[in-house]
Amino acid sequence: MCGIVGYIGKRRAYDVLIQGLHRLEYRGYDSSGVAMITDPGELNIYKSKGKVSALEHFASNKDISGTIGIAHTRWATHGEPNDINAHPHCSQSGRIALVHNGTIENYTVLKEALSQQGFNFVSQTDTEVVVQLIEYIMDNNHCTLFEAVAEATKRVVGAYAIAVIDRQNPRQIVAARQSSPLVIGIGEGEYFLASDATPIIEYTNKVVYLNDGEIAVIEPDKELKVYDSNAIGKNKIEITELQMSIEQLEKGGYPHFMLKEIFEQPRTLSDCISGRITADGKRVVLSGVIENRSKFLNTNRIIIVACGTSWHAALIGKHLIEEYCRIPVVVEYASEFRYSNPVVNQGDILIALSQSGETADTLAALELAKQRGAFVFGICNVIGSSIPRAPPSGCYIHVGPEIGVASTKAFTGQVTVLAMMALLIGQMKGTVTDQTVEKIATDIRRIPTLIQDILSQSEKIEDLAKIFTYAHNFLYLGRGYNYPSALEGALKLKEISYIHAEGYPAAEMKHGTIALIDNDMPSVVIAIKDNVYDKTVNNIQQVKARGGKVVAIVTEGDTVVRNMADYVIEVPEISECLTPLLTAIPLQLLAYYIAVNKGRDVDQPRNLAKSVTVE
Ligand code: G6P
Repeated sequence: MCGIVGYIGKRRAYDVLIQGLHRLEYRGYDSSGVAMITDPGELNIYKSKGKVSALEHFASNKDISGTIGIAHTRWATHGEPNDINAHPHCSQSGRIALVHNGTIENYTVLKEALSQQGFNFVSQTDTEVVVQLIEYIMDNNHCTLFEAVAEATKRVVGAYAIAVIDRQNPRQIVAARQSSPLVIGIGEGEYFLASDATPIIEYTNKVVYLNDGEIAVIEPDKELKVYDSNAIGKNKIEITELQMSIEQLEKGGYPHFMLKEIFEQPRTLSDCISGRITADGKRVVLSGVIENRSKFLNTNRIIIVACGTSWHAALIGKHLIEEYCRIPVVVEYASEFRYSNPVVNQGDILIALSQSGETADTLAALELAKQRGAFVFGICNVIGSSIPRAPPSGCYIHVGPEIGVASTKAFTGQVTVLAMMALLIGQMKGTVTDQTVEKIATDIRRIPTLIQDILSQSEKIEDLAKIFTYAHNFLYLGRGYNYPSALEGALKLKEISYIHAEGYPAAEMKHGTIALIDNDMPSVVIAIKDNVYDKTVNNIQQVKARGGKVVAIVTEGDTVVRNMADYVIEVPEISECLTPLLTAIPLQLLAYYIAVNKGRDVDQPRNLAKSVTVE
C-alpha cells in the first residue's frame, strides 16, 4: 500500500505534497515524510511517525521552500513504523532521495552485496536498498539518474512505484512503476505525480497512467518522456481526461467520510444503474458483457476472486449468477487462489472484483488465471486503476471515490452490478424469463429510493448503537442471500469499532457457535421475508432460549419477529435477490455509530489501509 506524491514546477512543492499526502492517507497512515530540493541545491528531508498532521507539525518551523519534491505516507511492511523507517529514504552520500510503494523481494541479497561495497544502512526497510543501489550505479557507471534508475529496476525483484530526485539536478524527477500504480498529472509547465489521481485533480484533469516496466523523466517546461524498461525506446504517451471532481473528495459537511459515503448510496447507486437498464425496464445493458456474449454463453464455470468486503459481494454474486444463469460459480479469496495451483480450464471466466482495482492479490490471481487460459473480466470502482487496465474486458461500478477505509458504497455498487450482470447473462442464455428480468430490473431502479427510506431511520439506529456500545462480542447471523450480509455486517463492526464479531450462517450456529450465546453476546439477525424466513425465525428462538439479546433486521410490517426479538429495524420489501442491498444499510450505520461512541478513528482504523497493494 503506501501513497506517493511528487511535484515539479513553479509552486512551493511542500504545499502540493502535504495536500496530496492527506488525499492518499487512506493508503496507509503510520508515518509520512517529504523531501524538497531548495534553490541552492540542498535536500531537505522531514519525516515523522504517525499521521500527516504530525509531519506538518514537525515541519512547521523548518525550511519548506523548493519547487521540486517527493513525499510518502506509509503502511509498514518491512520495519516498524518510526521516523527512521519512514520515507523518503536517502542515499549514503545524501545526494539521492526516493519514495517507494510496493515491496522489494530480493532486498536482503541486494543489501548484503551493497554492504560489501561499503554502504551503510540506517533503516530496516526494503526500500533503502533501492536508493543505495541507484547511487552505487551512478557512481560506478558515471551515468545519469535516469540511466541508474533504469539499471536498478532490472536488478530489483518485486513491486514498486518509485519517485527519485537528485540534489544536483533540481529540474528533474525520475519515476518508475512495476505492479504498483503511478499517475502523472500534466499542468502548465508543471507536473504532478501520485499513486492515484486524487492529489492531482485540483490542479489538472490531464493525466498519464504509467504502465508496468515504464520509466518517466519529468522536467518542468519540457515534454513528458516515458521510456520502456530497457530505457531505449520512448513510449507513446496516452493522455486521459479525469472525470472526478474535487467535491467528491471532500467530506461535504459530514463528520466522517464513512457517514458521507453511507448517505451517498441513493445517489451512487443511481449513477451505477444509470443507462444500464433500458427505458422500458425490460433489458440490462452492460457493454463489457454484451461484447463478450459468446464467452458468457459458452462458459462452464465462473470464478470470482476478491478480498475483504469485495469477497462478501462476490458471495452474493455467486447466488445471483447461479440462480439466474445456471452457471456454477466458485468464489475464492484472491490470496488463496493465487497460491493454490488452481484448476483453470480454457473457457472458464474469472471475474476480479475490487473497489480499488489495485489489490495485489486480486491482480495476481487475475494474471494467473489469464496465463492458464481463462477469460478475465474486471469489476472495479477506481477508473484507470490496474485491474481495469489489465483484462481484456470489464465494467465499472461508478460509485465515485470511496475514501473511508471501511467499504460501504462500493459494496452496494458491486452487488448492484453483479445483479444486473446476472440478469443480462440469464436473459442472453434464456435461463430467466423476461417477466422475471423486468420485475427485478424494476426493483433495482427502486433501490435508491428505498435506501433513502432506510437512511431516514438513522436516528433510531444511533439510539440502538448506544445500547450495544460496550458489548465485547457480537454474532451476526443470516441465511441465503443474506449470509454474506452477516459476514459483511460483522466485518464492518470489527474493522472500525475493534469489537470482536463473527458472521455466521444462522443454521450452522447450532454446530458450535451457539455455545457462545449468553446475555452478554448480542446477535444481529437478518430475518427478512425470504425463502428461509421460517427457518431463521427458529434460529432466533434458539438464541432467545439461551438468554441471548437479538437485534433483528426484518421486512416492513413483520410482527412475528417483532414479538420475539429485543429490537427490530425494518427494511422495505423487495425481490429476494436484492435484499442484501437494503440490509447492508442498517448494518453499516450500526457499526458506524458504535465506533463513534467508542471514540474510534472511523475513517482510518488502526492497522488498516484501503488499498492493499502488498501481499
Ligand atoms: C482492504 C480494504 C477493504 C477492501 C479490501 C479489498 O482491506 O480495507 O475495505 O474490501 O481491501 O479491496 P478492493 O479494493 O480489492 O475491493
